Amino acid sequence: MTNELVLIFDFGSQFGQLIARRVREQNVFCQVVRHDLSAERVKELNPKGIILSGGPSSVYEPGAPHCDPKIFDLGIPVLGICYGMQLACHFLGGQVGGGAHTREYGRATLTVTDRNTIFQGYPTESTVWMSHGDQVQNVSGDFEPLASTDTCPLAAVKHKSRPLFGLQFHPEVAHTPHGGQILANFLRDACGCSGQWKMTAFIDNTVRDIRARVGSRRVICGLSGGVDSSVCAALLVKAIGPQVACIYVDNGLMREGETELVKHTFRDWFKADLHAVDAKDRFLSALAGVTDPQQKRKIIGKVFIDVFEHEAKSIPDAHFLAQGTLYPDVIESGGSVDGPAATIKLHHNVGGLPAELGFELIEPLRDLFKDEVRKLGTELGLPEDVVWRHPFPGPGLAVRCLGEVTEAKLATLRKADTIFLEELRKAGLYRKTSQAFAVLLPVQSVGVMGDGRTYENAVCLRCVQTDDFMTADWSRLPEDLLARVATAIINKVKGVNRVVYDISSKPPATIEWE
Ligand code: XMP
Repeated sequence: MTNELVLIFDFGSQFGQLIARRVREQNVFCQVVRHDLSAERVKELNPKGIILSGGPSSVYEPGAPHCDPKIFDLGIPVLGICYGMQLACHFLGGQVGGGAHTREYGRATLTVTDRNTIFQGYPTESTVWMSHGDQVQNVSGDFEPLASTDTCPLAAVKHKSRPLFGLQFHPEVAHTPHGGQILANFLRDACGCSGQWKMTAFIDNTVRDIRARVGSRRVICGLSGGVDSSVCAALLVKAIGPQVACIYVDNGLMREGETELVKHTFRDWFKADLHAVDAKDRFLSALAGVTDPQQKRKIIGKVFIDVFEHEAKSIPDAHFLAQGTLYPDVIESGGSVDGPAATIKLHHNVGGLPAELGFELIEPLRDLFKDEVRKLGTELGLPEDVVWRHPFPGPGLAVRCLGEVTEAKLATLRKADTIFLEELRKAGLYRKTSQAFAVLLPVQSVGVMGDGRTYENAVCLRCVQTDDFMTADWSRLPEDLLARVATAIINKVKGVNRVVYDISSKPPATIEWE
């Protein structure tokens, strides 16, 4: 399955992971690696192709990231994108430069002059996305131009004797509408990839690997109700059945129906050994009187570890702990041998388990992106409701119930949240939005109901669009949907007389309110 490997050299591009996802969409397995991976290591990994990503540097700048030039002599097909192209041309006889009159950023019109190679089936004129001040200005006679724009005569080139291609623009971004075609051509025609990376093959191989590693020992799998841990658990159940014990901690901070869905899915449907621990009282009494958001998070994290550890101890012979770590986390944490160094990312670690628990880790999803995890979940027979679930923070509704968390406030919040999500689903927008939820604000305002004056709580609706949850924009939900939700909440949820919609983007606001 992984014998068709493509390596993506990371030069600090903001689109590095996007390139990887585009390659996976062609059913080709790929990994993001350090920009300076040695040619010897590349040879050992024996990839079918190499993609050099873009990056913010200039090739001549001191300290600019370079690759091992010997990778160009391995006979492995190379596609250089933007900075990657500039670097390849720099090593192989070209000149790179900037200058105000040649700079091109944003959308440009590409004219393809040679449609035989990576541009097979490509329109003669199309839009592409440029994102670098430098460009290749001159190439030696060893190169042939393939395409140009008004201000960039060498927008795409091909080496005459080596399997090497360069693109000044970004084929991986949505702003280059036919970019996927170029990547598909490169992978199929230049690299000879047949696109065998399919979910069914992934399942077969992973199941085999898990069985071989686990033997007759037992695995504990923490279930949060979210997509990643559910898929991880379902995969383990398929591989080793009753040898996996799933622990689900009901902290009393879950959404409406969430605990029942976990129980139904794993106990009734998958027939898994599910340990659902009812720890509502412990969490709520530890949170009593606490209003500071960080303090709330800390308490929840600590109680969670205590409860989990206690339950884990009741499972005899448990040797492994399974976690639903995904590929983006592996890349960003610098957790892969050949991968790029860790990038600094603000981490929320509530809901995580410390290494001191003493288990050996199993992370069967560490090669997958989120969309692949969803595909896998569907293949494994998880219900749509689980597979397409919006992310939910470890501290749950506690960070959406501003100020002190009480059972009564949680009940109010749950009702409002359920109404919002139901209406969003009915409007067909749940899967089109990244995260949607209600927040119970700790303010009261005046209202009228019938003949009387009310003085009650406000609920805020939050709904965002995002690719990576690091930045996010508020969703432009239809007015009539917002109106229906507001009316239903005010009519049906006792104690709420005002509904507002959050129109802040991240940054500067965060997605959650606490
Ligand atoms: P923010 O609010 O920082 O959230 O914009 C970004 C994403 O992270 C989720 N989030 C958390 N997840 N523990 C988690 O497991 C937490 O403490 C936590 N806080 C925020 C949030 O729901 C969003 O998807």
